[in-house]
Amino acid sequence: MRILIINGPNLNLLGKREPSIYGNAPMEALLPQLQKRYPQIELHYYQSNIEGELIDKLQEVGFAFDGIILNAGAYTHTSIALLDCIRAISTPVIEVHISNVNTREEYRRHSMIAAGCKGTIQGFGLDSYRLAIEAFIG
Ligand code: DQA
Repeated sequence: MRILIINGPNLNLLGKREPSIYGNAPMEALLPQLQKRYPQIELHYYQSNIEGELIDKLQEVGFAFDGIILNAGAYTHTSIALLDCIRAISTPVIEVHISNVNTREEYRRHSMIAAGCKGTIQGFGLDSYRLAIEAFIG
């Protein structure tokens, strides 16, 4: 089973960025832990701050991989292009957020991409990514 985790803008700063919301751990610490815990999965990771690059990556793997875990960062709330892309590919996408966006600013409460996703996991810190893997492996 091949699963790709995609992180969008500013998520390269995890561990440094607003630690009271996003925690102290960088993504680089989480990925080996996940790979160790789920040896049966081929886990891949991609991060970009650029909307078009996220779309390119979704298109690249979106007919071959078994699952995509997407934290689109702030593009979650704005990007019709990401929604169209998620709908265009055949690989199922799970939307993930580290924070619970429903408890934050009003403008974070709407997800533009949710309608194209299999489901959403949010509010569990970095464990949200693991829970998304669990959702894929059943
Ligand atoms: C986020 C929530 C978004 O609203 C925000 O723009 C992010 C991170 C999260 O993981 O909690 O960049 O997707």
